[in-house]
Amino acid sequence: MREIEELRSRLHGAGVSFSGMRVLVTGGAGFLGSWICEYLLSDGASVTCVDNFASGLKSNVSHLMQNENFRLVEHDISKPLELSQRFDLVMHLASRASPFEFEKYPIEILMANTMGTVHALEIARRSEARLLYASTSEVYGDPAPEFVPTPESYNGNVSTTGPRSCYDEAKRAGEAFVMAYRRQYGMDTRIVRIFNTYGPRMRSDDIYGRVVPRFIEQALTGKPITVFGTGEQTRSFTYVTDEVDGILRLAYVDEAEGEVVNIGNNRETRIIELAELIKRLTGSESEITFHPLPKDDPKRRAPDISKARRLLNWKPEVSLEEGLRRTIAWFEQRLSAK
Ligand SMILES: NC(=O)c1ccc[n+]([C@@H]2O[C@H](COP(=O)([O-])OP(=O)(O)OC[C@H]3O[C@@H](n4cnc5c(N)ncnc54)[C@H](O)[C@@H]3O)[C@@H](O)[C@H]2O)c1
Repeated sequence: MREIEELRSRLHGAGVSFSGMRVLVTGGAGFLGSWICEYLLSDGASVTCVDNFASGLKSNVSHLMQNENFRLVEHDISKPLELSQRFDLVMHLASRASPFEFEKYPIEILMANTMGTVHALEIARRSEARLLYASTSEVYGDPAPEFVPTPESYNGNVSTTGPRSCYDEAKRAGEAFVMAYRRQYGMDTRIVRIFNTYGPRMRSDDIYGRVVPRFIEQALTGKPITVFGTGEQTRSFTYVTDEVDGILRLAYVDEAEGEVVNIGNNRETRIIELAELIKRLTGSESEITFHPLPKDDPKRRAPDISKARRLLNWKPEVSLEEGLRRTIAWFEQRLSAK
């Protein structure tokens, strides 16, 4: 795949190689996890993917099943897991992550990021492996305007009881577990705070949750493009290869031990701008309609990425327009296959 080769040249150019490493990826059959598994295998690592297919798909990893260095373990990481194999790196990504799932599966989400994080940490501890935890920009909640772009040092403005708390607070607790294991057992840990990421293999049925698949699906099928609020609220959109590049650098670079790092595109985009851009790129006739804002929806979201630049020599490379073109092409294929 061309994009995996592009990623390899970026990562090898930065001196990052996983050849010969034994890596466990929880949530490896999901959107981000499957890109990570595919890249690691292509780079000569052996990969064990642990997934219960709560929100992931077998089709995301079916093309990896023939690879003798790939192993799939179907398991809910909220429950303890004993594996005889040893690992060099454990990457804990398992968690439902779409806002529409916050309503339907709040307890599962809390469990995957609290008990699930403990179980991933225990596997890493037994192996004396490094652990990377996939956290989120949502730990910042709705930041005060002077904290946008948001640096890692911002402690957040988050509701412990609101409808998003099952996700935001679960991730905050997950981070606290990671730091507790680091302090108590001296483990090598890293926390990545991921900002909105989009690209091929996002669930094409995720049209109630994440804004990019919703707008693309609506534009391609001629339905109204549904903007919440006035559309003046902002998000930062990171193309998947940029995100995976940053995550893998953070997992690899020795100097990043113990660090918490934002990985996201620092271009802030208004939601209405995104709707208009998708409408133009798809050549859609859909009208743009406006609907009430969901509760606790953050007004602005943009990362301060100076730490990632300094520590990992990372910055996003794929423009929003180019990333959307690639994503739209993938959705078009999906829709025509249906
Ligand atoms: N994509 C984004 O924009 C984004 C932003 C911030 C944080 N993240 C984080 O990155 C990680 C991956 O997100 P994604 O976008 O790939 O989501 P996804 O839903 O596509 O992938 C999550 C994967 O975890 C699996 N999973 C869920 N609960 C599990 C459990 N209890 N045991 C085993 N497997 C389980 C799912 O089946 C799925 O394969 C998540 O932790 C998410 O919170 C993603």
